[in-house]
Amino acid sequence: PTRPYVIDEMISAKAIAARIEDLAREIRATFEGTDKLVVVGLLRGSFVFIADLVRELDLPVEVDFLEASSYGDGMESSREVRILKDLRGEIAGRDVLVVEDIVDTGFTLSHVIRLLQSREPRTMRTIALLDKPSRREVDVKADWTGFEIPDEFVVGYGIDYAQRNRNLPYIGKVRFPDEA
Ligand code: PRP
Ligand code: MN
Ligand code: MG
Repeated sequence: PTRPYVIDEMISAKAIAARIEDLAREIRATFEGTDKLVVVGLLRGSFVFIADLVRELDLPVEVDFLEASSYGDGMESSREVRILKDLRGEIAGRDVLVVEDIVDTGFTLSHVIRLLQSREPRTMRTIALLDKPSRREVDVKADWTGFEIPDEFVVGYGIDYAQRNRNLPYIGKVRFPDEA
Protein backbone atom coordinates (compact mmCIF):
# COMPACT_ATOMS: atom_id res chain seq x y z
CA PRO A 1 0.00 0.00 0.00
CA THR A 2 3.03 2.29 0.16
CA ARG A 3 5.84 3.71 -1.93
CA PRO A 4 9.06 1.74 -1.86
CA TYR A 5 11.15 2.45 1.21
CA VAL A 6 14.40 1.35 2.78
CA ILE A 7 15.23 0.82 6.42
CA ASP A 8 18.41 2.20 7.98
CA GLU A 9 19.52 0.66 11.25
CA MET A 10 19.16 3.06 14.17
CA ILE A 11 19.51 0.88 17.30
CA SER A 12 21.20 -2.50 17.02
CA ALA A 13 19.85 -5.71 18.54
CA LYS A 14 22.90 -5.76 20.79
CA ALA A 15 22.30 -2.23 22.08
CA ILE A 16 18.66 -3.08 22.78
CA ALA A 17 19.61 -6.21 24.72
CA ALA A 18 22.16 -4.29 26.80
CA ARG A 19 19.65 -1.57 27.63
CA ILE A 20 17.02 -4.12 28.62
CA GLU A 21 19.44 -5.68 31.10
CA ASP A 22 19.84 -2.29 32.80
CA LEU A 23 16.11 -1.58 32.79
CA ALA A 24 15.35 -5.01 34.20
CA ARG A 25 17.75 -4.38 37.07
CA GLU A 26 15.92 -1.16 37.99
CA ILE A 27 12.51 -2.75 37.66
CA ARG A 28 13.55 -5.72 39.75
CA ALA A 29 14.70 -3.34 42.50
CA THR A 30 11.40 -1.47 42.37
CA PHE A 31 9.18 -4.53 42.55
CA GLU A 32 11.38 -6.69 44.79
CA GLY A 33 9.21 -8.48 47.31
CA THR A 34 5.90 -8.13 45.51
CA ASP A 35 4.18 -11.38 44.74
CA LYS A 36 1.56 -9.68 42.65
CA LEU A 37 3.26 -8.12 39.63
CA VAL A 38 1.18 -8.17 36.46
CA VAL A 39 3.13 -7.24 33.34
CA VAL A 40 0.75 -5.86 30.71
CA GLY A 41 1.92 -5.68 27.11
CA LEU A 42 0.16 -3.36 24.67
CA LEU A 43 -0.41 -5.25 21.46
CA ARG A 44 0.71 -5.46 18.95
CA GLY A 45 3.85 -3.35 19.04
CA SER A 46 5.18 -4.46 22.44
CA PHE A 47 5.20 -8.21 21.85
CA VAL A 48 8.94 -8.48 21.23
CA PHE A 49 9.97 -6.05 23.98
CA ILE A 50 7.79 -7.68 26.65
CA ALA A 51 9.13 -11.12 25.71
CA ASP A 52 12.73 -9.99 26.18
CA LEU A 53 11.98 -7.88 29.26
CA VAL A 54 10.14 -10.50 31.31
CA ARG A 55 12.91 -13.02 30.67
CA GLU A 56 15.38 -10.60 32.29
CA LEU A 57 13.17 -9.82 35.28
CA ASP A 58 13.72 -12.80 37.52
CA LEU A 59 10.60 -11.98 39.59
CA PRO A 60 7.33 -13.87 39.87
CA VAL A 61 5.19 -12.25 37.18
CA GLU A 62 1.93 -12.77 35.39
CA VAL A 63 1.77 -11.68 31.78
CA ASP A 64 -1.35 -10.21 30.25
CA PHE A 65 -2.13 -8.25 27.10
CA LEU A 66 -4.31 -5.39 26.01
CA GLU A 67 -4.70 -4.55 22.34
CA ALA A 68 -4.81 -0.84 21.60
CA SER A 69 -4.58 0.68 18.17
CA SER A 70 -4.56 4.21 16.81
CA TYR A 71 -2.35 4.21 13.71
CA GLY A 72 -3.93 1.70 11.36
CA ASP A 73 -1.75 1.52 8.26
CA GLY A 74 -0.72 5.16 8.10
CA MET A 75 2.19 7.13 9.50
CA GLU A 76 -0.03 9.53 11.46
CA SER A 77 -1.88 8.90 14.70
CA SER A 78 -5.66 8.97 14.39
CA ARG A 79 -5.63 10.40 17.93
CA GLU A 80 -8.40 7.95 18.65
CA VAL A 81 -7.33 4.94 20.66
CA ARG A 82 -9.40 1.83 20.09
CA ILE A 83 -9.26 -1.00 22.60
CA LEU A 84 -9.51 -4.10 20.44
CA LYS A 85 -8.85 -6.67 23.13
CA ASP A 86 -9.09 -6.32 26.89
CA LEU A 87 -7.00 -7.92 29.63
CA ARG A 88 -7.90 -11.44 30.57
CA GLY A 89 -7.25 -10.93 34.30
CA GLU A 90 -8.33 -8.56 37.05
CA ILE A 91 -5.83 -5.92 38.17
CA ALA A 92 -7.65 -4.46 41.17
CA GLY A 93 -5.24 -4.45 44.12
CA ARG A 94 -2.35 -5.69 41.96
CA ASP A 95 0.99 -4.13 41.05
CA VAL A 96 0.92 -3.43 37.33
CA LEU A 97 3.73 -2.72 34.88
CA VAL A 98 2.50 -1.49 31.49
CA VAL A 99 4.92 -2.27 28.67
CA GLU A 100 4.83 -0.15 25.51
CA ASP A 101 7.11 -0.13 22.49
CA ILE A 102 7.03 3.60 21.74
CA VAL A 103 5.51 6.81 23.04
CA ASP A 104 4.98 9.26 20.20
CA THR A 105 2.01 11.66 20.48
CA GLY A 106 1.23 10.03 23.84
CA PHE A 107 -2.42 9.34 23.05
CA THR A 108 -2.09 5.57 23.39
CA LEU A 109 -0.21 5.43 26.69
CA SER A 110 -2.29 8.14 28.36
CA HIS A 111 -5.53 6.47 27.28
CA VAL A 112 -4.38 3.10 28.61
CA ILE A 113 -3.15 4.58 31.90
CA ARG A 114 -6.54 6.22 32.45
CA LEU A 115 -8.39 3.02 31.59
CA LEU A 116 -6.31 0.83 33.88
CA GLN A 117 -6.22 3.33 36.76
CA SER A 118 -10.02 3.20 36.85
CA ARG A 119 -9.71 -0.47 37.82
CA GLU A 120 -7.83 0.50 40.97
CA PRO A 121 -4.55 -1.40 40.82
CA ARG A 122 -2.42 -1.17 43.97
CA THR A 123 0.37 0.47 41.98
CA MET A 124 0.93 1.11 38.29
CA ARG A 125 4.20 1.87 36.48
CA THR A 126 4.96 2.19 32.80
CA ILE A 127 7.92 1.39 30.61
CA ALA A 128 8.49 2.25 26.95
CA LEU A 129 11.42 1.08 24.89
CA LEU A 130 11.38 4.24 22.78
CA ASP A 131 10.33 7.81 23.42
CA LYS A 132 9.92 10.55 20.81
CA PRO A 133 9.42 13.60 23.05
CA SER A 134 9.47 16.05 20.14
CA ARG A 135 6.16 14.65 18.88
CA ARG A 136 4.23 14.76 22.14
CA GLU A 137 0.64 16.08 22.05
CA VAL A 138 -0.53 14.62 25.36
CA ASP A 139 1.48 15.20 28.53
CA VAL A 140 2.59 11.70 29.47
CA LYS A 141 5.92 10.05 30.13
CA ALA A 142 6.78 6.45 30.90
CA ASP A 143 8.45 5.79 34.26
CA TRP A 144 11.27 4.03 32.41
CA THR A 145 12.42 4.69 28.86
CA GLY A 146 14.90 2.64 26.87
CA PHE A 147 15.98 5.22 24.31
CA GLU A 148 14.96 8.75 23.40
CA ILE A 149 14.88 9.08 19.64
CA PRO A 150 14.49 11.93 17.15
CA ASP A 151 11.39 12.45 15.04
CA GLU A 152 11.89 9.56 12.60
CA PHE A 153 9.39 6.90 11.61
CA VAL A 154 10.83 3.70 13.07
CA VAL A 155 10.12 0.01 12.53
CA GLY A 156 11.36 -3.31 13.84
CA TYR A 157 11.57 -5.07 17.20
CA GLY A 158 7.76 -5.26 17.19
CA ILE A 159 7.04 -1.91 15.57
CA ASP A 160 5.33 -1.85 12.18
CA TYR A 161 4.81 0.29 9.16
CA ALA A 162 1.41 -0.79 7.76
CA GLN A 163 1.80 -4.10 9.64
CA ARG A 164 5.19 -4.87 8.12
CA ASN A 165 8.71 -5.13 9.56
CA ARG A 166 7.68 -6.11 13.11
CA ASN A 167 10.07 -9.06 12.90
CA LEU A 168 13.26 -7.05 12.32
CA PRO A 169 15.60 -7.80 15.25
CA TYR A 170 16.74 -4.14 15.46
CA ILE A 171 15.14 -0.69 15.35
CA GLY A 172 15.45 0.98 11.98
CA LYS A 173 14.23 4.20 10.44
CA VAL A 174 12.12 4.30 7.34
CA ARG A 175 13.47 6.30 4.40
CA PHE A 176 11.94 6.97 1.02
CA PRO A 177 14.73 7.09 -1.57
CA ASP A 178 12.55 9.02 -4.05
CA GLU A 179 12.52 11.92 -1.59
CA ALA A 180 15.35 14.43 -1.44
C1 PRP B 1 1.76 2.39 17.91
C2 PRP B 1 2.81 2.03 18.92
C3 PRP B 1 2.28 2.63 20.21
C4 PRP B 1 1.57 3.87 19.73
C5 PRP B 1 2.41 5.08 19.99
O1 PRP B 1 0.68 1.47 18.00
O2 PRP B 1 2.92 0.63 19.03
O3 PRP B 1 1.34 1.76 20.81
O4 PRP B 1 1.35 3.69 18.31
O5 PRP B 1 1.87 6.23 19.37
P1 PRP B 1 1.17 7.41 20.14
O6 PRP B 1 2.03 7.80 21.29
O7 PRP B 1 1.13 8.49 19.07
O8 PRP B 1 -0.19 7.00 20.54
P2 PRP B 1 -0.34 1.23 16.79
O9 PRP B 1 -1.55 2.07 16.94
O10 PRP B 1 0.40 1.38 15.50
O11 PRP B 1 -0.81 -0.27 17.00
P3 PRP B 1 0.15 -1.56 16.97
O12 PRP B 1 0.90 -1.55 18.26
O13 PRP B 1 -0.76 -2.70 16.86
O14 PRP B 1 1.07 -1.41 15.79
MN1 MN C 1 1.02 -0.04 19.72
MG1 MG D 1 1.35 0.16 14.53
